[in-house]
Amino acid sequence: MIESIVAMQNTKSIKDIDIQDKRVLIRVDFNVPMDSEFNISDDSRIRETIPTINYCIDNGAKSIVLVSHLGRPVGKSINFSLKHILKRLERLLNRAVTFVESVENVQSALSLLPKGGIVLIENIRFYEGEENNDPELAKALAKLCDVYVNDAFGASHRKHASTYGIATYVQNKVSGLLLKKEIDSFSKALKNPLKPVLLIVGGSKVSSKLTLLINILDSVDKIIIGGAMSNTFLQAVGYDMQESLVEDALMGDAIDILRSAKSKGVKIYLPVDVVCTNDPKNPTDIKITPAQDVPQGMMSVDLGPATVKLFSEVIRSSETIIWNGPMGVYEVSQFSRGTFSLAHVLADTYAYSVIGGGDTADAIDKAGEKDNMSFTSTGGGASLELLEGKALPAFEVLEKRDQ
Ligand code: 3PG
Repeated sequence: MIESIVAMQNTKSIKDIDIQDKRVLIRVDFNVPMDSEFNISDDSRIRETIPTINYCIDNGAKSIVLVSHLGRPVGKSINFSLKHILKRLERLLNRAVTFVESVENVQSALSLLPKGGIVLIENIRFYEGEENNDPELAKALAKLCDVYVNDAFGASHRKHASTYGIATYVQNKVSGLLLKKEIDSFSKALKNPLKPVLLIVGGSKVSSKLTLLINILDSVDKIIIGGAMSNTFLQAVGYDMQESLVEDALMGDAIDILRSAKSKGVKIYLPVDVVCTNDPKNPTDIKITPAQDVPQGMMSVDLGPATVKLFSEVIRSSETIIWNGPMGVYEVSQFSRGTFSLAHVLADTYAYSVIGGGDTADAIDKAGEKDNMSFTSTGGGASLELLEGKALPAFEVLEKRDQ
């Protein structure tokens, strides 16, 4: 884990090279959540790339081409068009941005712009070659720049043409300021952290966090397990979780993790009481019970109050805290208390707190505490892979400092 982080931190950043009069292409991650009318509900990913774009303008870049994906389109579709984010981008930059429908139209658009002109290309996933890491698309993108900057931390675990392949065809390839901030923030929590180090892990499935739980045991002192994934652990230690989401096939893995944690001196905390319901979407019956006593026909969907108290004490006695995954069905207001309460407790500590992106960032934002965390990652899958100890491909292809 530490080796891969050290290697990723050794990546050259845009501040290490001269971009004066250079054509810069920045891979950004503008994959932001939107409602059915294309209103952006969280623009953090756009906001977080503004410093890199401004840095290019301030340091005399000749032109700036922005490349991003949005969602997982199958072919072209207006529902996945980056046109929906253009106004927000222009407002945050306080500058005009020229939108082009295709990679082929970029050169002619740039020729009409003054020095420092900015072009945003339509969703790069409208090209089949993007996700296949097609060399022809990678080359076409490479032709648009003298310097390739990757600032798309959220997509840094993808080996796509614009995140990975392009680097083969560009000599100067560096990280943007966001990519650097992300890796430095995770490094602070994992490389030489203030101890004790606590991992709070939640979400629905043990299967999606199995590698994380196994690989992180050497880097943390304590682990809180909440969310539906704690049901599998509770069932594995002998409780009848009734209708709760339990991954039967993973009960053996859960026991192995508990044993391995014990042998490494890592303390694991599981819920002692839970909030149960007959139906998580349309609840007509809600009860708080000890974790051992989930009533027949009901399922556990949130932490109970005694667990919130216990977990709060664990948080207060930690110096570094990494949080990945909500503690319950936080999208339903009745079942958001566990997640929101822990967010408030964490916000009140002086610990160094790093929040994995995706659902966790959304939950903490909904709790009103996003600004009170030390660092909130813009990456969902990317931050999970980083915590699993994997080297992220987008970093691998960038220039290294000591080369
Ligand atoms: C994300 O939302 O995690 C990133 O934008 C990557 O998106 P993807 O999982 O569709 O590749």
